[in-house]
Amino acid sequence: MAGRIPQQFIDELISRVDIVDVIDARVPLKKKGHEHVACCPFHNEKTPSFTVSQTKQFYHCFGCGAHGTALGFLMEYEHLDFVEAVEKLAADLGQTVPREGGDSAPRGPSPQPLYELMEQSAHYYQQQLRRHPQRQRAIDYLKKRGLSGEVAATFGIGYAPDGKGHLLTALGQDKEIQDRLVTTGMLIENDGGRRYDRFRDRIMFPIRDYRGRVIAFGGRILDKGEPKYLNSPETPIFHKGRELYGLYEVRQALREIPRLLVVEGYMDVVALAQFDIRYAVATLGTAVTKDHLERLFRTTSEVVFCFDGDRAGRDAAWRGLENALPLMREGHQLHFMFLPEGEDPDTLVRSTGKDGFEQLIAKAQPLSEYFFEQMGRQADISQLDGRARLVELCRPYLSKLPPGVYRHLMMDRLAQLAHMERDALERILGGETTPKAAIAAPPKKPAAAVRHQPSLVRSAISLLLQRPALAQLAGEPQHLTGLQLPGTQLLVEMLDLLRHHPHLTTGALLEHWRESDQGKHLFALAQRDMLLSAAEDDLEQEFSDTLQRLLQQLRRQRRLELEHRYTELSEEEKTEYSQLVRGSS
Ligand code: UTP
Ligand code: MN
Repeated sequence: MAGRIPQQFIDELISRVDIVDVIDARVPLKKKGHEHVACCPFHNEKTPSFTVSQTKQFYHCFGCGAHGTALGFLMEYEHLDFVEAVEKLAADLGQTVPREGGDSAPRGPSPQPLYELMEQSAHYYQQQLRRHPQRQRAIDYLKKRGLSGEVAATFGIGYAPDGKGHLLTALGQDKEIQDRLVTTGMLIENDGGRRYDRFRDRIMFPIRDYRGRVIAFGGRILDKGEPKYLNSPETPIFHKGRELYGLYEVRQALREIPRLLVVEGYMDVVALAQFDIRYAVATLGTAVTKDHLERLFRTTSEVVFCFDGDRAGRDAAWRGLENALPLMREGHQLHFMFLPEGEDPDTLVRSTGKDGFEQLIAKAQPLSEYFFEQMGRQADISQLDGRARLVELCRPYLSKLPPGVYRHLMMDRLAQLAHMERDALERILGGETTPKAAIAAPPKKPAAAVRHQPSLVRSAISLLLQRPALAQLAGEPQHLTGLQLPGTQLLVEMLDLLRHHPHLTTGALLEHWRESDQGKHLFALAQRDMLLSAAEDDLEQEFSDTLQRLLQQLRRQRRLELEHRYTELSEEEKTEYSQLVRGSS
């Protein structure tokens, strides 16, 4: 895997792009006063409440609360992960993303020519479906399977003619290109060094990545033969366990993606699309991995596994469930739908039609129900022993759930099934610390003394988020380090960062905390502050006042500390103490 992206590169990237350009290219903006506005792309509305601030390099929707930086926008709008969003932003500027770790991070040659070749291959196969003398066999096959030309075109379906040298001759003119065709798995090289087409006499399904680039193919044999589906091998641009067939096409077809259906086969995805069910994706002959699930839940909040009812399908569903548990947060839903013996989505949708199929989806079992049903089969909960066994069986699974409402509800359900008290169950499962325990933690002494002003640090941070340039008024941030107020360290870090990079915008500043726990709070603060638009002078005044009060707080804290052990003070400390007493009125 490649190394980390240097923070400096991200800083520069963000300082170079303008959030207004980034968003405007996707959601046309109108200028209104100092801000740019549009109808929010993240919820339905008729009057624009989606606001983009050029000075802050931050967007905010007053309607639905969506907010973030240019990178955040790309992640949300195009369903990208952080690295993908950075790559996209960089690509827009014609830059390549550097990676930390020099030699330890394998660089290799640029993959760009590989993508181009894959695109050309896809084009070639599509052409053969129209031109090759044998094309009629392929066309008849697709017709027999009920596919229209339109759906075939949407998915870029093509035909690889029978023979060992078609793609080789069409694309592999020179040695360098041939080498690349071997790298992408389009050509096979035998022991004697002879090269030939991997895909022969097959219907070709191009597999696209999140940007729509062709990265691999699946090829189905026209008649009977082995293997039924031949897939590209793992290559520098294709990692089977990450990709989902059809996801790019879903995103092209739908602006909003209320749910994604995970099926087993290429043909299932395509057949469902033929029946206007545009939200199906397929894993590529592997189990549903954690990478898949992260990708799925970044794209939608509801995922439905639609698998065969046979042993293999049920095993696959269970493995998917295990991988999904760590991602089951509020708002994420996973459902399970098992098909009748001998059916797959392709055959089923032909008999039920769109509505019938969607009714079946609506009846899919929620994760919780499916989970406890499966667990219940292995333990007789009418007996005390069985209930104890149930708890033991569930323990390893429930411990994977992240803390939060979802976990809470699952624990409630288990408590109910096992006839146990919630608290006792939590103790047995060694779960998250209960709120009670958290409150019982001993408060730090000096903090208690200053507790009546908890919001000072917060207002300083909030002002910095509004006008990062204010940091220049703060002097040496290390002064504040000793302050025992929640958030002090974050404030010091922000001031320190801004001292070294005085020109960071709000958006750029926020990007430093994206990965951290505090990030969420900072984004929320920044968003709240979009609402305020105080005059420059007022902000400066407010910030200086806040700093003054923080320093005052610090002196008070110190005074209390010294007072506390007055009898043990050194001469020096005594002098300090009397100064502090005189200084505080
Ligand atoms: P299935 O055997 O269920 O085929 O494989 P299918 O999807 O119903 O195909 P049709 O309807 O006969 O055309 C499901 C998936 O498993 C992978 C493929 O991704 C396929 O779509 N598979 C299957 C392979 O990779 N290789 C194979 O030989 C078979
Ligand atoms: Mn099938």
